[in-house]
Amino acid sequence: MKNLAVFVSGTGTILEAILRDNIPVALVLADRKCRGLEIAKAAGIPTELVERTFGKGFNREEYTRRIFRILLDHEIDLIAMAGFMTILAPFLFKEWPGIILNTHPSLLPAFKGDNAVRDALNHGVKVTGCTIHRATAKLDEGSILAQASVPVLPEDTRNTLHERIKRKERALYPRVIKQMLKP
Ligand code: GAR
Repeated sequence: MKNLAVFVSGTGTILEAILRDNIPVALVLADRKCRGLEIAKAAGIPTELVERTFGKGFNREEYTRRIFRILLDHEIDLIAMAGFMTILAPFLFKEWPGIILNTHPSLLPAFKGDNAVRDALNHGVKVTGCTIHRATAKLDEGSILAQASVPVLPEDTRNTLHERIKRKERALYPRVIKQMLKP
């Protein structure tokens, strides 16, 4: 059985969907105190809070080294980033032997980056969605494993559109993770 770690920074509703699907989670790691971490604790899942600083003093290499060690300690094989908002140092993707997945709230390669929902709204696209992909050192690149589309409605705000996208992510991501966990 492969050991799955889910990385979170926020509300953790995608983590909840993974747990609802009875996918065994060996570790939940967060870069800040957040609801996602609380959900993991309540579910009795081992957690690691690797708190980061923001601003000039942030040492990405050193921060990523800390995470690397935790991955080895917990014998993790697969990482599913689920709303994890820290970009990890490139060495991790070269040196760590496991697989790293990410879910992103746009139809990649459109609207990479941290403001994908806002950018889609600002561009006036009529359709957007989510992408599950292999994460690489290059942000929001890596092979695409699954996508789902949603309509953008005239009355949409960032919140209403993001929630419609997240409903798709909660259905799609657990399916992809299950596939990757297969021996
Ligand atoms: C999801 O929409 C995910 O795609 C996005 O954060 C949300 C997490 O929701 N990730 C990114 O934007 C990564 N750049 P949740 O905290 O409710 O699970």
